[in-house]
Amino acid sequence: MKSLKPCHTFQIDAQSEDIIEIQDNSQIEILIKEGIFQRKFLILGSGSNILFTQDFPGTVIIMNTKGIHKIAENSTYVYLKVSAGEEWDHFTQYCVDNQYYGIENLIGIPGKVGSSPVQNIGAYGVELKDTLFQVHAISLETGKKRIFTNEQCQFGYRDSIFKNEFKNRFIITDVIFELSKIRSFHLEYAALNSEIQKLDQPLTLSLLQETILRIRNSKLPDIKEVGSAGSFFKNPIIRKSQFETLKSEYPKLVSYPIDEEFVKLAAGQLIDICGWKGYREGDAGVYPLQALVLVNYGHATGKEIQVLFQKIQKSVFDRFGISIEPEVNIW
Ligand code: EPU
Repeated sequence: MKSLKPCHTFQIDAQSEDIIEIQDNSQIEILIKEGIFQRKFLILGSGSNILFTQDFPGTVIIMNTKGIHKIAENSTYVYLKVSAGEEWDHFTQYCVDNQYYGIENLIGIPGKVGSSPVQNIGAYGVELKDTLFQVHAISLETGKKRIFTNEQCQFGYRDSIFKNEFKNRFIITDVIFELSKIRSFHLEYAALNSEIQKLDQPLTLSLLQETILRIRNSKLPDIKEVGSAGSFFKNPIIRKSQFETLKSEYPKLVSYPIDEEFVKLAAGQLIDICGWKGYREGDAGVYPLQALVLVNYGHATGKEIQVLFQKIQKSVFDRFGISIEPEVNIW
């Protein structure tokens, strides 16, 4: 058995039968021929979105392929092919350095590029789907390459086809991004907008980078210091009518419009109102600065985090009649 502790950010002391690192896509073909994907397997990037509540009885595959290549360009856009194993934030830095616009609001998100389409990572009013051009993947059943267009990925809020119909059926090898060469920013998200208003100089990508990192660091734990997987729950989407009823009792409830019928609430606020912020049971806790984030202060087990998240779910449901679902993958 091999320890999974260095392979994921929650720092849970779980084990797996084997861990294989992919440095080159040709290894995938060999693993398919060896039948690895016919047994129990789990593909990870940095493991920044998983909670192990038990050992993994199979092979953990870690994508570590590297490369950022410009594959096309016109007067407005640049198309970059990025290997799945690139650190997401190495890629965002590359874009800041080269003045490519589009993913700057996603700066500071832990994880690797190949995992980013799976849950359509998002922050500060921008989602991956806004700049993703294609996903290149290999079928684990046939070994054949397949290209997914943006539309074929069926992106939704923290959702894609790779979490649903094609879960465990493809390994993502590269992501192609369409980024703008023309200066343009997305500053609609209230928390970001108010910070930008305070700046007394023209906005640049590197100034925005600093600002986003400052906001993130003021709310989210540093995964090098505290075990966590970022937001533990998804923000719930509920009917407007239910929201109006709740709003009469809780006038400060935050909401984001979805469409005519639905709104999205801030799960962190609901958990906060239920009094969980800063709560700690042994080494399992709710981060004191952002109630949506569960943390492992050192030696929490995955089961202890699970007990805590289920208590939180129950308390939010009992108070608001809303089910909040984990955003993090639970094994
Ligand atoms: N809030 C509270 N109490 C809390 C936490 C939040 O009242 O303890 C309120 C805030 O005051 C704010 C609202 O809830 O009015 C939203 O909070 P925040 O801006 O921190 O964002 P979030 O909805 O809690 C989402 C993403 C984050 C992303 C931020 C910024 C999800 C599940 N989470 O959090 O993504 O960084 O927006 O865009 O959608 C992640 O996915 O791991 C992640 C960190």
